[in-house]
Amino acid sequence: MLVKQRNDNYWFIPVPLRYENQILGLINPGCTYRPSESSRKALGTMALIAGSALNNMSLREEVLLAMTKALEARDDETEAHARRVSMYAGHLAVRLGMDAYEIRFLRWGSLLHDIGKIGLPDAILHKPGPLTEEEMQVVKRHPQIGYDILRNLGFLGQAREIVLAHHEHWDGTGYPKGLQEEEIPLGARIFSVVDAFDAMTSDRPYRKAMSFKEAKKELSRVSGRQIEPKITHIFMNINDEELAILRQQAESSSNLPTKNKLLER
Ligand SMILES: [Fe+2]
Ligand SMILES: [Fe+2]
Repeated sequence: MLVKQRNDNYWFIPVPLRYENQILGLINPGCTYRPSESSRKALGTMALIAGSALNNMSLREEVLLAMTKALEARDDETEAHARRVSMYAGHLAVRLGMDAYEIRFLRWGSLLHDIGKIGLPDAILHKPGPLTEEEMQVVKRHPQIGYDILRNLGFLGQAREIVLAHHEHWDGTGYPKGLQEEEIPLGARIFSVVDAFDAMTSDRPYRKAMSFKEAKKELSRVSGRQIEPKITHIFMNINDEELAILRQQAESSSNLPTKNKLLER
């Protein structure tokens, strides 16, 4: 392992994080003494473990994205929407002071929020006109179906609660449980704000997208009813340029074919 000396009393040990033949990243710890052979070996072992963990993490995200892709083949709610809400939610969570561990679950829950729609019948999922009351009751089962699909994936942690609670409303009028205010898991409360925002600022077959400004106005109208006021307020303080960059990042990170491209094949 190469050791680089910056000056008389500072040393760097650049260590690549590898998984098999792939380099996933680089750590470059510094120390104030010339590292011994055994400390370099220990660092190498740690890098191997970290490389394998990183690889597992990206594999997991790929599996989760593949699941949203499976949903996209059945529903208009696209993988791009899942990526965008995941990106916005992660950014908002940083502003709320959440730690990296919690943010990971929030991002995964956001990616998978509508996975339960896979279990809805085509006649309801693809019905062009408005749904009857009975059909609406069937649609309202999708958070529970999603939760049941993911129930045994322990690594998803609190992401599963976000899937279950993503249609709960701050004032208790949501579903499936009619939870109110802080009974709703924090991740689901954050998610609801960004999901509403992304839905309004994206084109739908039956209407054009709203501008960020119009959507924020609408968010403030439903704040305290559908969504939590404090979280909404913090989201509103993220400026439009920043939101536009996040949106672009989420969309450009997608290298999977869109539904239309899949159908063209
Ligand atoms: Fe949903
Ligand atoms: Fe959504």
